[in-house]
Amino acid sequence: MRRAIVTGGASGLGAACATRLRGDGVEVVTFDVSPGADYAVDVTDNVAVKMAISEVGSIDILINSAGIVGPNKPLWEVESFEWRKTFDVNVNGLFSVTKAVVPGMIERGWGRIVNMASMAGKDGNPNLSAYSASKAAVIGLTKSLGKELAKTGVIVNAIAPAVIETPMNAATSPEVLAHITSLIPMGRMGKAAEVAALVSWLSSDECSFSTGAVYDISGGRATY
Ligand SMILES: NC(=O)c1ccc[n+]([C@@H]2O[C@H](COP(=O)([O-])OP(=O)(O)OC[C@H]3O[C@@H](n4cnc5c(N)ncnc54)[C@H](O)[C@@H]3O)[C@@H](O)[C@H]2O)c1
Repeated sequence: MRRAIVTGGASGLGAACATRLRGDGVEVVTFDVSPGADYAVDVTDNVAVKMAISEVGSIDILINSAGIVGPNKPLWEVESFEWRKTFDVNVNGLFSVTKAVVPGMIERGWGRIVNMASMAGKDGNPNLSAYSASKAAVIGLTKSLGKELAKTGVIVNAIAPAVIETPMNAATSPEVLAHITSLIPMGRMGKAAEVAALVSWLSSDECSFSTGAVYDISGGRATY
């Protein structure tokens, strides 16, 4: 049986991915700072990440879903601690979990990594500069790592969702949320289960000739 770690697995997209992967027959371990996770791990805490990963054992699939929205305001009003916190969770946390699991995947010759980027990382949402820049960083990291691992059997992709109905939207201001929802041609938010279906495929043997790619799941919003 394959084993997966889902960061941010206590809520939203992470929780939906955990449910979906369990349904696919994968053993799933969730890492989160919110209650309900299998391991209470803050992805920004390098020591905690390494300890938890060594306790879990071999990891075949990593879903990096832990993330925060960060400040909802124009860039010139963003405090540097808010900027740094957003990067710490969305980029540095993802980096340290990924760094910890990749060597084992290379050794076993098989692995699937799916990173939650965002349409914000491609388009740049107004009043979400820290979030948008952090998700652009996730896209760049995914493209580099995909190429580095291309001949190892370890496949790394990112997904770029538009607005999906999850608790994260409660941390987005109503004006920003209305604007980014209005950009979706299908005229609705996505559902977590729709995202989990894409992640399920990206985590499987069926996904075999794509790496370092960014998959759109945006109800038609993405233009590239
Ligand atoms: N919901 C959307 O509209 C949407 C769109 C595009 C991208 N995304 C991305 O998808 C991912 C999941 O978002 P979601 O909508 O499920 O949000 P969510 O808030 O429902 O879930 C995020 C989870 O991450 C956890 N988390 C936050 N900081 C953490 C840390 N330091 N260590 C460990 N866990 C931490 C939270 O506790 C929470 O359980 C995020 O990376 C988000 O940026 C979401």
